[in-house]
Amino acid sequence: MSLELNIHTDIRRASTPSSELYTSPSVFEAMKDRIFAASWQFAALERDLKAPGQTWPFTLLPGFLDEPLLFTRDYDDQLHCLSNVCTHRGNLVCEQGGIEKQLRCRYHGRRFDLRGRMLGMPEFEGVVDFPSESDHLPQVAFERWGGMLFVSLKPSFSFAEAFAPMQQRLHWLDVGSFRFSPEHSKDYLIQANWALYCENYLEGFHIPYVHASLNAVLDYGNYTTETYRYSNLQLGYAKDGELSFQLPASSPDYGKRIGAYYYWIFPNLMFNFYPWGLSVNVVKPITVSQTRVTFLTFVADEQLFESGTVAMIDRVEREDEAVVENVQRGVRSRLYRKGRYSPRREQGTHHFHLLLAEFLSSKNEV
Ligand code: FES
Ligand SMILES: [Fe+2]
Repeated sequence: MSLELNIHTDIRRASTPSSELYTSPSVFEAMKDRIFAASWQFAALERDLKAPGQTWPFTLLPGFLDEPLLFTRDYDDQLHCLSNVCTHRGNLVCEQGGIEKQLRCRYHGRRFDLRGRMLGMPEFEGVVDFPSESDHLPQVAFERWGGMLFVSLKPSFSFAEAFAPMQQRLHWLDVGSFRFSPEHSKDYLIQANWALYCENYLEGFHIPYVHASLNAVLDYGNYTTETYRYSNLQLGYAKDGELSFQLPASSPDYGKRIGAYYYWIFPNLMFNFYPWGLSVNVVKPITVSQTRVTFLTFVADEQLFESGTVAMIDRVEREDEAVVENVQRGVRSRLYRKGRYSPRREQGTHHFHLLLAEFLSSKNEV
């Protein structure tokens, strides 16, 4: 398949991407560098990196990007994100997290400080131009927000460009003070392409058809979508009598009965704000037709967060999975190629497809 998606910018004239987007192994492969290495990815929780000397190795998007990285906190209390690949012959430097004074590769003993600077190497006397800049561990761009750490291997836009619309709109929320709840966080395995999962998330069109329980509390008539450069917002209004945010006068939404803010950040991050707190969904491609979605739960208000909350999210998630898995089977059909959009209800999905087209385009050759 050509990587040119050709999505018309006018939603009234546009057609959806042809089905190879969700089925072609070569498109899936191209997405790794063009989309995922170029964007901001969730990497870790800051609570795992509290102590000076802490090292925290991880693989960015296991089975997909498969990039070995390492967070460290040095003794000046500064965080660093480094390549975890030894600059000698490529062994993994840090295999297990812990508290360390320095890093030492177990293969031939090359040593680095916690900022990634090479300190020394046995048996290298006489090596010309050694050490040089390329003997230090490469630094990886990272940003923190709300107790979460995000990284980008080759950012083609800044973190602020992607996150600022959400941060500004919700400036009155102290997301960093929310309590992460591991017992209410879990992974879902979905037999569908990651992009089908995202585009389903990006429209409320299906709510009355697929989610009876959600439809009972949301005011579907008022449901709106706002698009920004690299993110968009679906605003869920609460029905009368249902839980809504107590918004301060400084909020641009003051006076509205908002039940949920659903923020999506290109390509695969979802931040769902509710009066009780935040549910983050990280969509992780595995194969062209398999995806893992990690749900992270952060509680802002223990009173409002009750057992029914998680059960409701879980139910809605399984309803979405069922329909998205059916779509994966559908887009494999020889008799389906593409469709059209509802201008009123599918702006978020259209926005996603425009961004996919932009990043997959050969003008973005890497
Ligand atoms: S690969 Fe690390 S010291 Fe040789
Ligand atoms: Fe849904």
